[in-house]
Amino acid sequence: MDEQKKNMLSLIQPTNTPHLGNYLGAMQNWVRLQNDYNCFFGIADLHSITVRQDPVKLRAQIKESYALLIAAGLDPEKSTLFVQGHNCQHAELSWILSCYTQFGELSRMTQFKDKSAKYSDNINAGLFTYPVLMAADILLYQADLVPVGADQKQHLELARNIAQRFNGVYGDTFTMPDPYITKTTAKVMSLQEPTKKMSKSDENPNASVWVLDDKDTIIRKFKRAVTDSEAEVCAREGKDGIINLMSIYSAVAGKSFEEIEAEFRGKGYGDFKLAVGEATADMLAPMQAEFKRISADKAYLEACMKQGAEKAYKATRKTLQKVHKKVGFVVL
Ligand code: TYM
Repeated sequence: MDEQKKNMLSLIQPTNTPHLGNYLGAMQNWVRLQNDYNCFFGIADLHSITVRQDPVKLRAQIKESYALLIAAGLDPEKSTLFVQGHNCQHAELSWILSCYTQFGELSRMTQFKDKSAKYSDNINAGLFTYPVLMAADILLYQADLVPVGADQKQHLELARNIAQRFNGVYGDTFTMPDPYITKTTAKVMSLQEPTKKMSKSDENPNASVWVLDDKDTIIRKFKRAVTDSEAEVCAREGKDGIINLMSIYSAVAGKSFEEIEAEFRGKGYGDFKLAVGEATADMLAPMQAEFKRISADKAYLEACMKQGAEKAYKATRKTLQKVHKKVGFVVL
């Protein structure tokens, strides 16, 4: 670890293949910032079982998500790429922090409210304490910066509150983490319901573009994207579908909204949708090729995972021991 550099951390759940929102809202920033920070990127397997998972599928998806981190351009030598459950200290710190988190605070989390409505037959304690585990992920690594999408902002604020409370009682223990959220891609919307965020659990197969979708599928999904009855590509109020496509195109093709408006002035939505689809597919193609190559090398992936687990454990040992001492446990 470079002492001159600050720490950056973020995790992704392995509950499905990442979608375009995960990529543009989070992963792309991880790749961009990886040289400027000591980086820790993880697969949140512990978080994923708050919703019932098929074990065989979950195991495969953890491996797939891990390979995708590397395929996206994260360097396992430079950054620590780990699976959360491989470092037992996450769960341990989570327990301790749960004793410094109020029931009322957790009850106010919008994600808990949404998920408990959606999975009303399985409102388990893990779903409720989910944000505490997330705070533990962040605080364990003394993260300065946490690049996430807008949906995680409330959880980040809770992590800051927990850190502040703990530091207030015991003196400086945890670094205060700042969120890093990119404006245009903070919330990529569903292609079918553009007032709803693109989500891994959406049952409509046309709502999300998965990062491993092939070019034809990507173009088809964009062609079917819900827009409006006008024919003007511009970011006016009420044009949620078009604004979403413009945001995606802007992020993928590196163009401003003005440039996009000028490019499609006098053209129909068909041309625009095709351009967004093609640009998205072209952007994802190198990652998909790299994913194919890496996935075939099981020994390499396993070696990376093992190395990541060791690096993650070592990087966090000191913090947990410090916490044990501060709260009054006997440290051997
Ligand atoms: P997860 O797996 O739902 O999403 C991974 C990342 O993708 C972002 N994201 C989006 N960004 C833009 N538009 C969208 N439609 C969209 N959907 C998702 C998320 O904000 C996230 O950055 N609880 C976290 C995982 C986690 C974590 C952490 C993150 C566990 N521990 C510690 C940061 C720090 C989650 O479920 O992300």
